[in-house]
Amino acid sequence: RLLNFNPAMVEKQGFKHFMLKEIHEQPGVVRASLEAYFNPGESTESPINLGLPADLYTDLEQIQIVACGTSWHAALIGKYLLEQLAGISTQVHYASEYRYAPSPVTANTLIIGVTQSGETADTLAALTMEKERRQGKEAKYQARLLGITNRPESSLGHLVPHIISTLAGIEIGVAATKTFTAQLMAFYALALDLAARRQTVSKDILEKIINGLRQIPKEIEATLETQERLTEQLAHEFAETQDFIFVGRGINFPIALEGALKLKEISYIHAEGYPAGEMKHGPIALLDAKVPVVAIAIPGSVYEKVISNAQEAKARDSRLIGVTPVNDGEAAEIFNDLLPVSHVEELLSPILTVVPLQLLAYHIAARRGLDVDQPRNLAKSVTVE
Ligand code: G6P
Repeated sequence: RLLNFNPAMVEKQGFKHFMLKEIHEQPGVVRASLEAYFNPGESTESPINLGLPADLYTDLEQIQIVACGTSWHAALIGKYLLEQLAGISTQVHYASEYRYAPSPVTANTLIIGVTQSGETADTLAALTMEKERRQGKEAKYQARLLGITNRPESSLGHLVPHIISTLAGIEIGVAATKTFTAQLMAFYALALDLAARRQTVSKDILEKIINGLRQIPKEIEATLETQERLTEQLAHEFAETQDFIFVGRGINFPIALEGALKLKEISYIHAEGYPAGEMKHGPIALLDAKVPVVAIAIPGSVYEKVISNAQEAKARDSRLIGVTPVNDGEAAEIFNDLLPVSHVEELLSPILTVVPLQLLAYHIAARRGLDVDQPRNLAKSVTVE
């Protein structure tokens, strides 16, 4: 026994890879975020406490978010929440684009840089450019700056005056998993805080959403339990597949992008994420029996639409995998395989729907014998342009 002792396994707490361990740490990340952000402190205005000064929020008219990779996907969900809950027009930019073509801003613009490492060169450059614009003192360039990072001591922490620290703990796997979930929690807190202060959402609804968030850790645990085996089985069948399409709509469209990115990053399989309604404008031409489609179908505002988009894919002989809490009716008929998630409010569902997609990518890559934690050509933080 002693001869077989492997120190790396201790660090990985019995998991075969850091990525798998980090996927399983997500319920704890959500719990830590709930504890840290969702306590009202002294404020009577909001049940959320992010430690940000009130004047950061005063008369906000628009938000511009800059990010890369998985952080960019979290930002897209952030946009959905900030617009739909707090009613603030929000744009999301690739930092590498924004730095050379910044949006017009005003003193009532909040610019948020999202980077788990706090060291991504393009994100830092976009924020540095904004900071320099501010130094010109022209009123039109006096935007407010905020960072969301897992490493408050990073370069980002020194660059911007305000930070929301995400609470994922150290992430070793190059492909981001628990830091993504932690970023989502930061966006839920920020959007709900703004919604409470701007009174764009009633107290009852706010309470309902927060109570829903409190149930999420145990729902992720339940999802992890059922999905481990299911995704491993699917990985067996799809290990040699060459192309994958992921579709979702609304708040789950960015999860389709993230599912595709995870698969690309660690399994080197070509994968694309689309808003399901956009399939007919091109990607549908790719579909045949060799191209599986993963559809995220959560009851709510766009469920029927996603199902009918899935039907169109099925008519092209694609094998359909459904990430859904529904296991009867149309869903049971249409999906060849189900990756079930618990029933939760559509608004909260991305924290759950991403989990089977992370596991699917993980098991496919592991099955292909690839270096899951250190995929080729990628780095944990990209400190060059
Ligand atoms: C690299 C990593 C990605 C990550 C991206 C942004 O490309 O491989 O997983 O999403 O950087 O990193 P950041 O630290 O800025 O969130």
